[in-house]
Amino acid sequence: MGRFTLRKILYLYCISSIVFILWLLNYHMSIRENDDWEERIATLNQRLAKKQTQLDESRQLIINYEEKLHKCRMLKPYPKHFNSSLPTIYLITPTYDRIEQRAELTRLYYTLLHVPNIHWILVEDSDRKTDKVRRFLANCQIPYTHLNVATPEQLKLKSSDPNWLKPRGVLQRNAGLTWIRSSLDPQTNRGVVYFADDDNTYSVELFEEMRSTKKVSVWPVGMVGGLRYESPICDRNLVTGWEVYFKPDRPFPIDMAGFAVNLQLFFDHPSAWFSNNVQRGYQESTILKLLDVTMADLEPRAEKCTKILVWHTRTEKYKIKNEAKLKLKRGKGTNPNIEI
Ligand code: UGA
Ligand code: MN
Repeated sequence: MGRFTLRKILYLYCISSIVFILWLLNYHMSIRENDDWEERIATLNQRLAKKQTQLDESRQLIINYEEKLHKCRMLKPYPKHFNSSLPTIYLITPTYDRIEQRAELTRLYYTLLHVPNIHWILVEDSDRKTDKVRRFLANCQIPYTHLNVATPEQLKLKSSDPNWLKPRGVLQRNAGLTWIRSSLDPQTNRGVVYFADDDNTYSVELFEEMRSTKKVSVWPVGMVGGLRYESPICDRNLVTGWEVYFKPDRPFPIDMAGFAVNLQLFFDHPSAWFSNNVQRGYQESTILKLLDVTMADLEPRAEKCTKILVWHTRTEKYKIKNEAKLKLKRGKGTNPNIEI
């Protein structure tokens, strides 16, 4: 009986040892396997994350290309080919930061897209070039030059001032002239200079009228000087007088939008500049006098000054009157990151 029990115990011991060893082995294996799986899952997750970023990047790339494609389609009407037989129109546009700015520039740009051989000199009234205009120009499909110069504080128009109190765009037009005189070659560059404010409305036809300017070409301007239009009075191909009410005795009673000058004249008269120290309404007369222009030099355009091809439009000042109220009502105004 004793022997039998001992043997039994021995068997039991052996079996349980084997079971234990098997269990230990199995346990060990499963831990390793688990570790393996965890490692594998971690690597797979990493790979997934990487692929996700790649996918996001590709998605962004597609969006960018779609945007570019969209722009190309939008710009289709612009005849991109440069016609070397045509003189270039150098358009000097002063501009300044305000809520209406991008709307004005967009409208003007879309007009210019229809004009071949044009070079847009956009001059910001500011200490430095703003990101807003930089971004705007980056998307422009016409030749341009981006400049800036700030009007000194004491000469700057305040928003409460009447708009005629101080001259506008003077230093900016001069900066444009400096660029022209220093970057163009009077021997090889043929062209016409036009001072185009950013808020006027220009017919595409106007640019073809001015392109052939020998010295100074002139035409009527709509909605200016308190009249329906102001205009040179023409007798055949000569200007004999002026249809104006405001200061008719000025040497050249004409709005900035009403004349263009042959490029050569600015090289021939290197000290012709605009000035902040002239009487109201005398900017145009000042520059034309300094360019030695006489009445006999004026070349009537736009069907002997009978067609209005440019309008002295002025955009109504926009009042952001509900932004503060919205903030009060719901804790925040409209998204400041959206550029208007
Ligand atoms: C009229 C004439 O059409 C302008 O050519 C002339 O410069 C101006 O009067 C003047 O007497 O100085 P107006 O419509 O009254 O123009 O002037 P704005 O359109 O307000 O300004 C003319 C240009 O100067 C615009 O291109 C405008 O963007 C720019 N400007 C205006 C500045 O660069 N800085 C300013 O602070 C204000
Ligand atoms: Mn204006």
